[in-house]
Amino acid sequence: MNLTFSLIKPSAMNHCEEILMAIKTGGFSILAMKSQNLTLSQVKKFYKEHAERSFFEPMCERLTLGPVLLMALYEQNGKDTPLQFRALLGATNPKDAAPGTLRKRFGIDLDFNAIHGSDSDISAIRELSFFFSGMETGLILSNSHELELLY
Ligand code: TYD
Ligand code: MG
Repeated sequence: MNLTFSLIKPSAMNHCEEILMAIKTGGFSILAMKSQNLTLSQVKKFYKEHAERSFFEPMCERLTLGPVLLMALYEQNGKDTPLQFRALLGATNPKDAAPGTLRKRFGIDLDFNAIHGSDSDISAIRELSFFFSGMETGLILSNSHELELLY
C-alpha cells in the first residue's frame, strides 16, 4: 500500500516545520493534515493494542499535553509505505535510532519520541480512518478492503 498515517506528538510540535520538510524530502506527500487536541479517551482507543502494557496510561496522557499534527501520507509509486516511513522515523527509542532519522533528530527518549508512524498496511488503514474522513483525505475503502484514492 502506498499510504500511511503519521502523528507529530505534542513534545515535538515546536519542530513541525523541519519535520514536514524532512517528510517531503523523504519522498512522502501529504494528502491531508490537521492539528488537533486529542482527548484521553481518543488516545486510549487509538493505542488500544497497548492497553495491558505498564506504560499505557502515562504514554496516553503524554499525547494529550498539547495539540498534535495528524497526517495522511502518500508515496507516489510507493510500496510498503508504512514500513518505508518507519525507516525514516527510526527506532522506537531515539537512543537506538540511526543518525538522520526523525526520532534521532527530534526525539528525546522513549517517552518523548516525537512522531508516530503506522506499523503495517492494516494499521495504516485503521489509523487513517480513525482520524480522517473520506472527504478529508480523498480516500475510500474499496470493496476489496483497500484504500482507494477518490480523485
Ligand atoms: P510501540 O507501538 O511499541 O512503538 P512505535 O511507536 O515505534 O510503534 O509503542 C508505542 C509508543 O509507546 C512508543 O512510540 C513510545 C511508547 N513506549 C513507552 O513509553 N515505553 C515502552 O516501553 C515502549 C515499548 C513504548
Ligand atoms: Mg506502534
